[in-house]
Amino acid sequence: MRALRYPLAVAVALLLAVPCPVRAEDRGVVGGQIVKVADAPWMVALASRERFGGVRSGHFCGGALVGRTTVVTAAHCLSQEVLGVDVLDAKDLRVIVGRDDLRGSAGSEVPLRSVWVNPGFDTETNAGDVAVLTLAQAVPSGRSIGMAQAGDAAYAPGTAAGVYGWGDVNGTGAYSNKLRGARVLVLDDGLCRHAYPGGPEGTYDSATMLCGGLPLGGRDACQGDSGGPLVARGRLVGLVSWGSGCAQAGRPGVYTRISSVAALVRAHSTESLSGAPAATALPGASAPLGRPQPDAPAQWGPR
Ligand code: ARG
Repeated sequence: MRALRYPLAVAVALLLAVPCPVRAEDRGVVGGQIVKVADAPWMVALASRERFGGVRSGHFCGGALVGRTTVVTAAHCLSQEVLGVDVLDAKDLRVIVGRDDLRGSAGSEVPLRSVWVNPGFDTETNAGDVAVLTLAQAVPSGRSIGMAQAGDAAYAPGTAAGVYGWGDVNGTGAYSNKLRGARVLVLDDGLCRHAYPGGPEGTYDSATMLCGGLPLGGRDACQGDSGGPLVARGRLVGLVSWGSGCAQAGRPGVYTRISSVAALVRAHSTESLSGAPAATALPGASAPLGRPQPDAPAQWGPR
């Protein structure tokens, strides 16, 4: 019985062969549900119709409002690789505020006054993956979220967190038209170091990065969610940055650790940003995703 000499190999082969039993409409971000932007008012889409076409409002990344004119996102979202041109030549960059469905025209499309991309962003390791967008017009107060400082309890491993975006819902390039969110956990640094010890899949650096997901995978950010927020205890703790595949067991999502870049964000914002959790419509720390929507099956998982 040759196969029995390799029980692990057989188990892995079976797992790979058996299609994932999760129904497509249950998926997120990956493994999430539809979320109303009213319940995640700091969530914004980065858009350029010129670069990405108008069908989904030109969406290409996520971002988060940390002030009335200040949006944080990932540096890699504004790279030549993503935009196809230098960011200074992407003239129609917009931040879309208050739009649930990218096929519609709800909310507003705010032009930018200025863009700061972290010059310390390391394209090899993805360390320092942050950029600050200054809006040409202020959005109404009450939409922004506070950045969690170092030592905030929201960074404790096991903390429930929400990740949001209009990105790929299953790793096949199927982008969501409606905003989605998934509830994940802030994961232990040791686990992430183990997942990404260096080499082709990447290197986890706990000083500048944060890991989120579930130990067995199944929920994660994915392509197109980059720059979007990871929120825990009502505070911004991370920005979607990278990962190996999406939602795979043992390959958690890696986020820019907000506490490691908050000083840079403040230095490049033209307003004074409050560190305190902003007033949002979120019902509380135990429910970072807001209310489940009727067309999304309840899928809250372990709290
Ligand atoms: N780099 C991707 C983007 O530009 C985000 C990847 C996040 N991946 C993950 N497994 N969490 O949208």
